[in-house]
Formats: sequence, C-alpha cells, structure tokens
Amino acid sequence: MEKRTNYCGNITADYLNQEVNLYGWVQRVRNLGNLVFIDLRDREGIVQVVVNHDSGKELMEAADSLGNEYVIQVKGKVVKRSSVNPEMKTGEVEVDASEIIVLNKSQNPPFEIKDNIEVSEQTRLKYRYLDLRRPNLQSAIILRAKILQATHEYFDQNGFINIETPVLGKSSPEGARDYLVPSRIYPGSFYALPQSPQLFKQLLMGAGFDKYYQLARCFRDEDLRGDRQPEFTQIDMETSFTDEQQVQDYTEGLLKKIMKDVMGIDLKTPIDRISWTEAMNNYGTDKPDIRFGMLIHDLSPIFKDSDFKVFSGAIADGGFVKGIAVKNGAQAYSRKQIEKKQDYIKRFHAKGLAWIKFEDGEFSGPIARFLNDENQSALIKEFGLEGGELLVFVADKWKVCCDSLDHLRREFAKETDIIPKHEFDFVWLVDWPLFEYDEGIGRWIAAHHPFTMPDDEGIELLDTDPHKAHARSYDIVMNGDELGGGSIRIHKRSIQEKMFKALGFTKKRAYEQFGYLLEALDMGFPPHAGLAIGLDRFAMLLAEKDNIRDVLAFPKNANASEPMMHAPAPVAEQQLTDLGIEIEEQYQESTAQTDAKLQEQAMRDYASHSTWEE
Ligand code: AMO
Ligand code: AMP
Repeated sequence: MEKRTNYCGNITADYLNQEVNLYGWVQRVRNLGNLVFIDLRDREGIVQVVVNHDSGKELMEAADSLGNEYVIQVKGKVVKRSSVNPEMKTGEVEVDASEIIVLNKSQNPPFEIKDNIEVSEQTRLKYRYLDLRRPNLQSAIILRAKILQATHEYFDQNGFINIETPVLGKSSPEGARDYLVPSRIYPGSFYALPQSPQLFKQLLMGAGFDKYYQLARCFRDEDLRGDRQPEFTQIDMETSFTDEQQVQDYTEGLLKKIMKDVMGIDLKTPIDRISWTEAMNNYGTDKPDIRFGMLIHDLSPIFKDSDFKVFSGAIADGGFVKGIAVKNGAQAYSRKQIEKKQDYIKRFHAKGLAWIKFEDGEFSGPIARFLNDENQSALIKEFGLEGGELLVFVADKWKVCCDSLDHLRREFAKETDIIPKHEFDFVWLVDWPLFEYDEGIGRWIAAHHPFTMPDDEGIELLDTDPHKAHARSYDIVMNGDELGGGSIRIHKRSIQEKMFKALGFTKKRAYEQFGYLLEALDMGFPPHAGLAIGLDRFAMLLAEKDNIRDVLAFPKNANASEPMMHAPAPVAEQQLTDLGIEIEEQYQESTAQTDAKLQEQAMRDYASHSTWEE
C-alpha cells in the first residue's frame, strides 16, 4: 500500500499546500449538492475532506456513495478552511481530495462511533472493536500504553531485570480462588494460573538477581467490582538487601516518572505516610480518600453516659459511637434521604443511623432531645460546628462503625460535591496488623500474604499471641483506591514455619504446599522486599474512569464473561475425554443447550449478511 503521509488527526495549518495520502474511517458524509464533506477519522483524530464539483463527476459520485465506517484512502492537498472550527485540532484546514479509494465497506454499525453514546455495556463489549474506535477509549488504551512505556524505562534506568515467570503454576489456597487448567498428561491434576508471581519473585531473590521487575498477568476468581477484573496486570517488583524506605523510594520514583511522562504532573515526594490504625480511626478504611476532610470522630467519651440508651448501651457493651459532620448537609438532606442511607448501611450490619442537624445554634432531629447542654457544646467543639451541618452517628462494634461511616463519608462527599476533580492524591499506609479475622470463613488470615515479615515484636508474638503482631508491610493508596501493596518478606525458615503455624497449617500441609520455599530459605536466602502496583487500576484512576473495563482492550463483563467470543464456553467432548474430565450430570443438559444456543446466536448475530452458500 502507498505509504501514509500523515495521520488525519495531526493535519494542522503547518501542512498547508502539501499533498497528503491518508487512510481512515468515514465518520460522516454531508452532501451539499455542489460540495461533499467527509469527516475522516483515524486514531489521532478527525480531518475534514472536501470534494467539490470542479473535481469531476466521478469523484463526486465516489464521495457521495460512502457510508459511515467505510475504510478509505484519500489523496489530496491541505487547504485553508473557509469556516474555521476552533474546537478541532485540524479545524483550520481541510483536505481537497483528488482521489478517493474505498478499501472496504462497512455495514451500518450498531452504534455511532463517538464518545457519548447510550448503549448497553453488553453491546459495547460484543462489538468491542467498534467500541474501541471511540476517541475516549482509544485515549484510555494509549494512556495505559504510556504507563507501560514509562515503567519499562524506569526499571531499566534503575538496574532492575525484567524476568518472566510461569503462567501455569501450582494452586495455593491462600487469597482468592484460583483459575485451574487441567493437565492432559496427568489426568486429574491441574495447573493453577498465578494470582501474582509472589513466590517466584522471592525465589529470584534467592537466586541472586537482586532487582527484579515484571509486568505480570495475574488471575483471580473473585467477585468482580468496578476496580477488579478476573485477569489483570501488576507492575511487580522485588529487591534484595533493602528495607521499607528503599522499596518506597523506588515506588515513589516510578510514580513520579509515570505522573510526569503520562500526565505532565510533578508529583511531590516523599508521599505522606499514615498508620493503618490512624486510617481506620479517621477514615474507617485501609484505603482512605484523603482528597477531602469529613473525618470520622470517636464520640464515645461524649456519649458514654448519654440518656440515649442506643449510645450509652453500645459503649457499655464495649462498642463505640462514631460520627461525621456533613457541611451544608442540614439543608441538603431530607429525613427521607437520610433514612435511605440507614437502610443501605445495614449491609455492614449497622443497626441504625442516628442523626441531628445543627442550624442557627440549635440542634434538631430525632435524637436532639437526648443531647444535654454538655453534649451539645462537646459536639460543637469536637467537630468545630459552624452551622448548617448534618451529623450522623453509628453506635456499634468498632468494625461496623468503620465500615458504615467509611461508606457514608464517601457517599456524602460525592453528593455534596466536595471531592476535587482532576486531582491525584497518593498516601502510604504503614504499620499494618499481620493478621485479620475473616468473618466469612471464621478464621484468622494473613492481612497481606503469609510471606510478610512481622516487626521485631511481632516475631516474638508469633509464639505467644500471633494475632496481635504487626507486619512490615505497606500499601500505596490513590484517591481512595488500593493502588498497590508490598512488604518486607520472611527470609528465614524458622519464622516462615511459625507464620504457617499461626495461620492454622499442619506441618505436613505446610511442607506439601510450600516445602520448596521453606527449604530454599535455608540455603543462603537474602533479606528482600518488594511491592506490586495494579496497572489497570492505576490507568483507570489516571484516565478518570469509573470502571477498570475502560482501560482494558478486551475485558470481561461484571459476570466474568466475554460477550464477543463468548468465553467461557463449552468445549468439544473429545477435549474433555483427553483430559479425563466428565461434566456432572446436573450440568450436562445445560452445557449441551449452551452449545446449541451459542451456534444459533452466532448465526443470528453475525451471519445475517454472510454470502456463504452452504
Ligand atoms: P495484592 O494482592 O495487594 O498484592 O495485589 C497488588 C495490586 O494488584 C491490584 N489488584 C487487582 N487489580 C485488578 N483486578 C483485581 N482482581 C486485582 N486484585 C489486585 C491492586 C493491588 O493493590 N504479591 C503481592 C504484592 C507484593 O507483596 O509484592 C500482591 O499480589 O491494585
Ligand atoms: P430506636 O430507639 O431504635 O427507635 O432508634 C432511634 C434512632 O436511633 C433511629 O434513628 C435509629 O436509626 C437510630 N439507631 C438505632 N440503633 C442505632 C445504632 N446502633 N447506631 C446509631 N443509630 C441507631
């Protein structure tokens, strides 16, 4: 093909009077009788192509016959536009066409290729290649690529070695559920896809590579949310002979470079650090959004003798009364709206939501009558009330107070529009507990992962009271989302053994699963530490998208399926036989139906314009 001279979206007045050869997609055609305008689009943007009567009948007809999304080649000359469009980068010029060649036609697309469209996500994902033609998604994917580029440069400049680790690995029960891949050679046995390259990167430290990094694909079979995908990419790193400070310095260096190269922003370092306890107390979460205030206050000292038995009772039972003050909330929220929030926080096991308003020096609302003078002045002082505030309170166990008020704080902030836009805030979360209690499964689990080093006191506690131990781990939090996490790792067998024991492993089970690691730690293993950043999340936050799917070329939907190719899907009987796998009887019928349905659906959806005669 003839070489392209320019991208459509880059043609500015700098190219006036030049002959150009362009390739692109027809955004739209306007026929004004003696003039035809074609908006021609490529990945860099749109340029206006003009065909006028003087160019001859053939060219006019060619221009008029174009449909949306036709792929064409245009040759012509860059000329000044009579009516300049200041909204467009190419708005001062147009291309006076001398030749138009249709390279491929297009059916009418199921949705228009532009940014603001009202189309279901299912349809967007089904026609993802069309969806990805939209400028907004193109720029998000390009932004992601720039992050990758900056990352590779940074690690290369800092002496890190890019090492790939296997995707077919061994299942390990910690963390999320694994994706399994059946083995044909060993029927009944399975590989597991990695949830992260954690142990491989530690072993690479054992192998003496000293500084490792990888853009690692990770797979986790967990409930999906806006910031989670079943497969995602980590910017993964590990270093030997380092400590918290050095890993955090490397991370800050990387973030600084990415912010500068990709966003043109000078990130101020060092990034602030707050302890896990401080974060939980002030924000109710281990991923605090620090772009706005509205901190959570512990009001237990104020209400411990309250006449409101809900409050004093909760405190007497070892619980807390915690609350937040919403500026201008008194006017902004009706009783009904507040009660709706009360229903919502029940999912965090909150029993209720008490509230008052403070206006013109007076408290009002359902529990105002329980506030004595002392309570009133204490609240004014505690929150620095100025008037116009809505105060909400949760009286409950510590965790319930934290979860409910974290949610309410973020929701009130969004609704009262106090979150600064286009601002990126980072904070380190340090001094974590080593373990946390998982209510769902009813046992203690590692707060980070089982390979995290306890602090010095924590090492002692492993023998006596392990669940009180603190970890040498750290998270990097961005705009209220967990961007990444890491830790100093255990590099001694005896400590790792104690850790497994504290997690409820038997010696046999620990050695069956992690024997290679425990043995390796006894073969001259260096002290080491590292961290991993969620690349997709980072791209999502920088692109200011609400959903991680918008920065992935081919994501899964909220039900972990992919509506274009239809993954997951049933496979041929023979494939299962080869693997020694049989579908349980209860699923046999539905699997067969799914297969038939997919064929039918494909014929209906994709084959209606086919010319294939069977
Ligand atoms: P962790 O499990 O905290 O740590 O993961 C690190 C980061 O990966 C991102 N992330 C995800 N992104 C998208 N979809 C998901 N399902 C998903 N799960 C996690 C998050 C998270 O902060 N091996 C350790 C790191 C270490 O200790 O070095 C690890 O995997 O942004
Ligand atoms: P009650 O006395 O149960 O009618 O509750 C009076 C008010 O207190 C209602 O607005 C409830 O939502 C609220 N409330 C009840 N339990 C709690 C609680 N544990 N924490 C905060 N508010 C509560």
